[in-house]
Amino acid sequence: MELMFKNDLLKAKRILVTGGGTGLGEVMSEAYAQLGATVYICGRRGAVLDETAKKLADKTGSKVKGIACDIRVAEAVDDMVAQIWADGGALTGVVNNAAGNFISRTKDLTPKGFNAIADIVFRGSFYVTHAAGKRWIEGGHKGSVISILTTWIWNGGPFTVPSAMSKAGVNIMTKSLAAEWGPYGIRLNAIAPGPFPTKGAWERLSPQSANRGDGSQASIPMGRNGEMAELANLAVFLMSDGCDYLTGQTIAIDGGLHLASGGNFAALSRLTDSDWERIRTEIRGANEKDKAQRAV
Ligand code: HXC
Ligand code: NAP
Repeated sequence: MELMFKNDLLKAKRILVTGGGTGLGEVMSEAYAQLGATVYICGRRGAVLDETAKKLADKTGSKVKGIACDIRVAEAVDDMVAQIWADGGALTGVVNNAAGNFISRTKDLTPKGFNAIADIVFRGSFYVTHAAGKRWIEGGHKGSVISILTTWIWNGGPFTVPSAMSKAGVNIMTKSLAAEWGPYGIRLNAIAPGPFPTKGAWERLSPQSANRGDGSQASIPMGRNGEMAELANLAVFLMSDGCDYLTGQTIAIDGGLHLASGGNFAALSRLTDSDWERIRTEIRGANEKDKAQRAV
């Protein structure tokens, strides 16, 4: 990947990227490994993690290790983080990237549907941050946490309400712990990406049936989706020692989208009942395919 940093910038860093087996998590993991960091990636699909870990290790020459873990389960998260500590010492950084999401009219959600997202994003991000943070404090280590949010934390997320609520919670965790844990040398920042097309997000947020046919990119002031290296550069910058005084901040990287149009799914108001039925079927198909690959 074409990055703007020198090759050994992250040497001696040890970074956990949740959801690092796919999509943006894989992109950030590759960038960290390329710059010399040891990278741990977790997710529920062991085979996906093994494949990505091998691919990134071969490509970068750094150690990249996959650990199957469901971040909805606090004990499993603590076991994973203990396993990492035992495998060469303290982490230096964590990226809360794992998430679940799908578009749905809020009136159609069940409590289980709400929890399917909130348990991953709201609770899971806390469990991971807490498991690393308490060890950093106990061991007198510095640490850095980056959470991947969305711009909906600022202006709301119609048709993605459980995600918007959960990400907003993680945003306030970022600000709260930046102050509480600053004295320990622990920094927390967040990134709110605009559209960076990935398989996982697009199957659930822009399935065929939700295609608005309105050239959504036209509402992005910069006229295009994000490029993966652009996101990776920001994720590296925030993780590096060069910005040790930067904490409690959430940075949008969206080509100006949320400032121009809200950057959310408000335009889906025009879909009909039958559109929503088709959308739900398509998303469920994607969910089931992924589920068949999970061991945990
Ligand atoms: C309404 C739905 C639904 C849909 C699932 N559910 N899909 N409800 N509309 N389209 C409901 C189910 O009916 C069920 O409730 C409940 O959710 C749990 O479903 P499961 O399939 O059992 O969930 P689970 O196995 O826990 O999977 C979690 C998941 C799944 C979130 C539903 O999509 C997943 O694993 N996602 C991980 C990857 C992902 O989402 N990536 C996208 C991240 S992108 P009932 O009551 O019916 O049983 C992102 C932001 C991008 O976050 C921003 C772009 C600009
Ligand atoms: P993705 O490829 O679907 O990534 C989600 C990852 O989270 C997957 O690797 C998934 O792996 C993992 N995950 C989900 N539930 C988990 C659980 N319970 N435990 C452990 N891991 C779990 O989608 P993406 O687009 O790269 O999204 C990555 C992050 O970017 C998310 O936080 C998303 O909200 C954010 N984001 C993306 C965009 C975009 O345009 N793509 C825009 C804004 C924000 P398993 O299924 O194997 O568990």
